[in-house]
Amino acid sequence: MAPINIKFKSTGAYLPERVLTNQDLEKIVDTSDEWITTRTGIKTRRIAADEEATSDMAYEAAKIAIKRADMSPEEVELIIVGTISPDMFFPSTGCFVQDRLGAKNAVAMDINAACSGYIYSLVIASKFLVSGTYKNALIIGSEKLTSIVNWEDRATCVLFADGAGAGILVPSNGGSKILAFDLGSDGSYGKDLCVPAGGSRNPATKETVDKKMHSIVMNGNAIFKIAVNKMRETFNKSMAMAGVTADDITLLIPHQANLRIIESLRNFLKLPKEKVYVNIDRYGNTSAASIAIALNEVHEQGIIKRGDIIGLAAFGGGLTWASAILEF
Ligand code: UT7
Repeated sequence: MAPINIKFKSTGAYLPERVLTNQDLEKIVDTSDEWITTRTGIKTRRIAADEEATSDMAYEAAKIAIKRADMSPEEVELIIVGTISPDMFFPSTGCFVQDRLGAKNAVAMDINAACSGYIYSLVIASKFLVSGTYKNALIIGSEKLTSIVNWEDRATCVLFADGAGAGILVPSNGGSKILAFDLGSDGSYGKDLCVPAGGSRNPATKETVDKKMHSIVMNGNAIFKIAVNKMRETFNKSMAMAGVTADDITLLIPHQANLRIIESLRNFLKLPKEKVYVNIDRYGNTSAASIAIALNEVHEQGIIKRGDIIGLAAFGGGLTWASAILEF
């Protein structure tokens, strides 16, 4: 695979203020801090305010990224928002963000690839940049998953959370680049992780609401096993195409769905703990936002620098999976 000459000019993130702890959840469903910690690695997560929608969080993250890129909103040419919890079916969350930013000259769209959404957005935006169609792209992962969680289902409500991350991508002169990427989908497992109603298959009725069909349902065990295998497979593929080995990776940023899935990938790659970024303990699973938030954190804190080899790997509903190796 030929490298794609693009770079992150800047990043940004937004985490809502309200913190929901495992102890708080013990009061809502039959669960325990011990179960959640040992089975998932999550201790706390952020919950958006009632009036705060996905596009509001996306806007906050994007504003920071645009400012750090020393750009004005009018200069942004492409906006892609990865989300599975859009403000509305339509218009796209991208269009809402465009309006709030005043990014009048940008084309805006959403990508629905669940937890793989940020890497999908990265790859799609990069293709527009290297083809010369656009000079820059604002990619965002933003989710208000707590708005589509069944708060009576202890198997899912302890996992999912809210937040947003963003990045400004521009063409590079070849120093920074995407060395390789791998994207994949398998719709045959779609119903193992989905929101069953609200779309054209099961439009909203009193019955769909009563049966809580507008919230996330997940066959956790099945998804867990596929996630472990697919994360290994996709990351291996990207490493092979990039011509690197695990030893070359400065930092691996995996999607934060479950610490056990992250640990399984880390052990498979024989990476030491300090080479795998984990923030699931603080933020839970924020789907498309998770890698975007993590990438901003490591960038902001100076944990990564230009020239580092960064691995990204994600897996989620669809099913979808994605990985990329960046020379940052
Ligand atoms: O982000 C995209 C993709 N998503 C994922 O990758 C998630 C993948 N799946 C998982 O992370 C895990 O399957 C879960 C964290 C969702 C569940 O962990 P598990 O180890 O697979 O648990 P389980 O579903 O096998 O359940 C084990 C037990 C069950 O009780 P019994 O039947 O053994 O008596 C559950 O009812 O744990 C029970 N359980 C809970 N107990 C306390 C399920 N949820 C909870 C809970 N608190 N919150």
